[in-house]
Amino acid sequence: MHKSRSLWQSNLGFLMAAIGSAIGLGNIWRFSYMAHEHGGGAFLVPYLVALAVAGIPIILLEYGLGHREKGSSPMVFARLSPRFELLGWWMPVVAMFGIMLYYSVVIGWCVNYFFHSFTLAWGSDPQTFFFNDFLQLSSSPAEFGGFRLPILLATALVWFSCWFICYRDIRHGIEVAAKIFMPLLLLLTAVIVFWTLQLDGAWEGIRDNYLSADWHKINFLAADPEARAAAARVWVAAFGQIFFTLSLGFGIMIAYASYLPAKTNLARNALITAAVNCGYSVFAGLAVFGIVGFMAFSQGVTFDEAIVGGPQLAFVVYPQAISLLPDFNSLFGALFFLVLIIAGLTSGVSLVEAFTCALTDKFNWRRKKVVTALCLLGITGSLIFTSRAGLYLLDITDHFITNYGLVLGGLLQCLIIGWYVGPEKLRQHINKLGSKVPQIWNFFIRYLTPLVLLILLLVAIRGDLADNYEGYATIHLLLYGVGWLIFCLLIAYFFTRQPWLAARLKHKHRYGDDDLLV
Ligand code: PHE
Repeated sequence: MHKSRSLWQSNLGFLMAAIGSAIGLGNIWRFSYMAHEHGGGAFLVPYLVALAVAGIPIILLEYGLGHREKGSSPMVFARLSPRFELLGWWMPVVAMFGIMLYYSVVIGWCVNYFFHSFTLAWGSDPQTFFFNDFLQLSSSPAEFGGFRLPILLATALVWFSCWFICYRDIRHGIEVAAKIFMPLLLLLTAVIVFWTLQLDGAWEGIRDNYLSADWHKINFLAADPEARAAAARVWVAAFGQIFFTLSLGFGIMIAYASYLPAKTNLARNALITAAVNCGYSVFAGLAVFGIVGFMAFSQGVTFDEAIVGGPQLAFVVYPQAISLLPDFNSLFGALFFLVLIIAGLTSGVSLVEAFTCALTDKFNWRRKKVVTALCLLGITGSLIFTSRAGLYLLDITDHFITNYGLVLGGLLQCLIIGWYVGPEKLRQHINKLGSKVPQIWNFFIRYLTPLVLLILLLVAIRGDLADNYEGYATIHLLLYGVGWLIFCLLIAYFFTRQPWLAARLKHKHRYGDDDLLV
């Protein structure tokens, strides 16, 4: 017997959970670093274009699909045609095994740093502390060098928290957590931003590096081929960031929208999610640029000398800045890492949920058992990233999963809806519910968005074939990058091959309208 699907208690609860998934570690430091690297304020142009061309059209598509078919991504795509079920599995598998295994470890780092803030444990040289004392980074990705116990314990805590939140049903678990965490997150972020703005040099850092633009960096029509190639990479980065930041191509938004009641304003929800998420990034960027400006000012160096990118931005630059603060250093540090932990946790929960929803849909297994098993599996899988080679492995995995796994998911979704199903049917479904999606959306889903994503994929492949990413050895890139993608594909294939409990695929929780496919 099929139990009726659980639903969000309120639209606000849904929005908070969806925004909670979108706002994550990526909004705070990944966005800022990208913006700095790719032309400061000028980066906002490709970022906003990517939002308009891929972000909003695909979030509408995912909300529409999840709501229309009332199912997780494997169920939605299997209903469209058994041929597409593999894609339906690919997305949540990538979320759970491609991203969450390392994402949880990075949240674990934040948990450690939260505690380190109280003693300012990084001392006068946060860089050495991060690499030598904290990570105890080995000399190559091949050298695991055993586990780092503090990281392992913190990662276990993160998995435990995810388990605790996902274990209950949607409205008593994820929704309650989102309703507590999201307002808290916004409040704490605002405190950090306004605190930062008070610091000497912060405003200059923001004005000269964030609010000013280096337009050459985004000119992909430049005469000089090298400048053109560099600008193309900026555009690729902007699209990658939009996918990552809006949690698209994972089946997350499909699963979340499947728990919405029949009457709901999907288009408005999609716009709010996108706007709040991207607005948050731009706002949080003030804190990052401000703190680097403050550091440059206090140490008498230039902004470019003060900033470093990637993981170091949060774990080296920030600690350094925290130590330099005139007062309340520990409080500021603890607040900053708490913001990262909260942002990360609400995203982590959504990664686990996408896969949980897929398993409960297909096999009718009990949610509690699925979540418990997944979280145990998750902490086991995360172990490899808590080793002394963890940073290398997660860097490689992240590069391949975000550049290929995600974009591929988005591209195939557009092609299936655009060419096989027909976007008009989905548009009509969304339009019946409230705010209207203009007709041009059909053109985006059919032509523009997939074309842009295809170009993106090709540029990324060309870049990877030309140079080994970050100079890693080919064998390691194959193993942890390409190998990881193949590993995800095999898992997805395995689940696709399992038979559906007959009633589940046929049981359509529809609202009395026609099939999406006729
Ligand atoms: N959107 C989150 C962020 O910006 C991360 C995330 C990616 C969450 C993919 C879920 C899926 O950090």
